[in-house]
Amino acid sequence: MKQELFSNHFAVGNNGCLVFDGLDLVQAAKTFKTPAYFISEAVVRENCRAYMRAMRQQFGERFKVAYASKALCSSFIYPILQSEGLNADVVSGGELYTALHAGFPAQKLHFHGNNKTDDELLQAVQCGIGSVVIDCLDEIERLDAVCRHLEKKIPVLLRVKPGVDAHTHEFISTGHNDCKFGFGIEDGQVFEAAEMLSRCKFLDFCGLHCHIGSQVFLKEPFGIAAGVMVALFARLNKEYGFSLRELILGGGFGVRYMPEDTPVPIPEMVSYLGQCLRESCSQHGIDVPEIVIEPGRSIICTAGVILYTVGSVKKIPHARTYVSVDGGMPDNPRYALYQAQYDACIADRAAQEKSEIVTIAGKCCESGDLISRDIPLQPARRGDTLCVFSTGAYTYSMASNYNRLPRPPVVVIQNGCGRVVVRRETYEDLVRNDVI
Ligand code: LLP
Repeated sequence: MKQELFSNHFAVGNNGCLVFDGLDLVQAAKTFKTPAYFISEAVVRENCRAYMRAMRQQFGERFKVAYASKALCSSFIYPILQSEGLNADVVSGGELYTALHAGFPAQKLHFHGNNKTDDELLQAVQCGIGSVVIDCLDEIERLDAVCRHLEKKIPVLLRVKPGVDAHTHEFISTGHNDCKFGFGIEDGQVFEAAEMLSRCKFLDFCGLHCHIGSQVFLKEPFGIAAGVMVALFARLNKEYGFSLRELILGGGFGVRYMPEDTPVPIPEMVSYLGQCLRESCSQHGIDVPEIVIEPGRSIICTAGVILYTVGSVKKIPHARTYVSVDGGMPDNPRYALYQAQYDACIADRAAQEKSEIVTIAGKCCESGDLISRDIPLQPARRGDTLCVFSTGAYTYSMASNYNRLPRPPVVVIQNGCGRVVVRRETYEDLVRNDVI
């Protein structure tokens, strides 16, 4: 049986090895060592273009696609985003610093966070950030004070909980009412915040924001949330006399991790959003405002693979087979956190049938340190290169040094060649900040 490959960016070379966008992954494992993150620039650009094209079709020129930096934040990503015409969001001083360090224009950034520090607010206003998404009442006063001090007026939006259940893992679902992010509508908090904003000379209240959750596979929750947000938008403009002009509808569009996953294709998702927005706006008698979306995972996830080297292969009678690799939860904590599952392949024998069911384990002293549980795989041998698919999002950006493992490098694939854009940490890096 011919083994299905993860996507059309993968092929099997004449030597039987897995090739990703022209790069032989077994050779790449030798060149760059393992574990290592690989990101295909072509796939990132393809996803950016799909969003830009679909949004332009729906909203003409009144839209922005803002990449959610948290999915993978490192200097190399920003020039790619900029050349594709995207904006970006940041959620911390560190992400903001990275984007600016990479030369991304501050004006094209907006700043999120449920507990921004005074220092972060100062940093954001000082650099001339595009806008700040306000998450709690005291942030209004603190941001106004910073702006008054610097004599700079900045655009702000209110983060709103639209009260929508996104049908995703509880920890990555954020639109319902009992959630730490944003202001409620029913409890009146968003109106209290709006009134406070109307008294702040240095804050230009320009719009509303919501984000219902992440890795959402259904279209409908996005449509429902858009309807709730448009109603609130219209009410604030008509009844309260504001002049809001921007509506950010967050990210969260699901991607394919496992062969059976069926995410909504980008053009279909965006066209559904467009249709829902036009309907709600006409129902409330307003023009469609400038629409912003914040996809993170759906831009970077399928662009990435992680390569590991197989170490011990332990067959436990009447239990399972553990294939242990030279990384694990420090480079990809998503199984440990969310029981996330991944598809994988032995890159050395990519065309061979996946005739075994195995559990891929990391090398940490923790039984929960798995990468994927009970998945089909080619028979694995010590020294094989294991490729784990769809690992571009929330892996490097959530990596740690648990068990003192140095963080792997990030290698960007461009025209069939790999280029290190984040170097591998060394043991010296590990002790760099230790004070003796
Ligand atoms: N906008 C806001 C305000 C967000 O909080 C997020 C994600 C996004 C956009 C981007 O969502 P995306 O398109 O990437 O799904 N660590 C978790 C995901 C946490 C997502 C947090 N917020 C995971 O590994 O699944």
